[in-house]
Amino acid sequence: MNKVLITGGAGFIGSNFTLGYFKNNPEDQIVVLDKLTYAGRRKNLEAIADSKRFRFIQADLADAGAVNRIIAEGDFDSIVHMAAESHVDRSIDEPSVFIQANIVGTANLLDAIRGEGWGGDGQSRRRIFIHVSTDEVFGSLPAEGLFTEESPIRPNSPYAASKASADLLVRAAWKTHELPVISTHCSNNFGPYQFPEKLIPVIIRACLSGAEIPVYGQGLNIRDWIFVDDHCAALKLLLEKGRPGEIYNIGGNNEWRNIDIVNLICELMQELKPSSGSYKDLIRFVSDRPGHDFRYAIDSSKMKRTLGWSASKCFREAMATTIRWYIDNPRFPE
Ligand SMILES: NC(=O)c1ccc[n+]([C@@H]2O[C@H](COP(=O)([O-])OP(=O)(O)OC[C@H]3O[C@@H](n4cnc5c(N)ncnc54)[C@H](O)[C@@H]3O)[C@@H](O)[C@H]2O)c1
Repeated sequence: MNKVLITGGAGFIGSNFTLGYFKNNPEDQIVVLDKLTYAGRRKNLEAIADSKRFRFIQADLADAGAVNRIIAEGDFDSIVHMAAESHVDRSIDEPSVFIQANIVGTANLLDAIRGEGWGGDGQSRRRIFIHVSTDEVFGSLPAEGLFTEESPIRPNSPYAASKASADLLVRAAWKTHELPVISTHCSNNFGPYQFPEKLIPVIIRACLSGAEIPVYGQGLNIRDWIFVDDHCAALKLLLEKGRPGEIYNIGGNNEWRNIDIVNLICELMQELKPSSGSYKDLIRFVSDRPGHDFRYAIDSSKMKRTLGWSASKCFREAMATTIRWYIDNPRFPE
């Protein structure tokens, strides 16, 4: 029996990870720590809320006292640290919130596990702390090339800078204190429970309500898309077999220009919820985001080579699953 702490477990990736982990590990205890910001939703976890194997704690990672108490009382085997402020546009308007949640929050967690004697020699059991970071820490790519684990950190938004800072704290925790930590860099996720400020739910919800679909610039920016279940499977594997002190890139090997994603979703919408007009008529090009990175693309060959993982979900089917979920949950995130 393992006891895992999932920070940010009421958010998008956190909810998917928590529900999947609960189902696939019937012996394990799960604790979710989440501040429940606008992006966190306790209802996402209602299917497991009454289980004796599950506990929810509402707390702010920036509150060092609370974090120390939770870590001391929890005696966790592993921590999947996903809690973060995660929206680039918001970070441009209000960077200090990102510094508190993403940098101070991560520093507090690392301090707390150090205080509980994680790391160094003489550990009688495997303990592991995974920092779920992002490919955005590497900045932007031109038309060619991929981000590897060795790529230099060159964040271009306050969000990416805050995640990169947290990555550096995680690295220092390994080098200085031998804390058993891993950082991951994943590409853009999509799937159920994603807050409708991110590109894919924005497009789907605009189609459902007949609102305009805003597309930055000419929609030529390129992102690598991964279904959230594939990301969660990679994280689960790292909990079991990831090497402390290592960095792992996680990607879908699935690059799309934003405008092509918009067109694909409009076509799938037509199949799943036929409309008399074309959903593509809703597309509107809007002023580009300042400092908008042109392209992200991930080399996840280390995950394949060392752990046998690669993204396996069919992209079109996963996108249809996602669209169906938003059709079936029109009131989300109320
Ligand atoms: N969504 C993506 O495409 C993507 C890609 C790569 C990495 N990531 C990383 O994965 C993690 C999860 O992303 P997401 O898209 O699920 O984010 P999200 O915004 O949907 O969820 C974040 C969760 O963290 C909680 N939270 C925020 N600040 C907190 C604080 N101070 N204390 C405690 N809880 C707090 C929120 O309430 C929310 O439940 C983030 O660390 C993000 O940087 C996301």
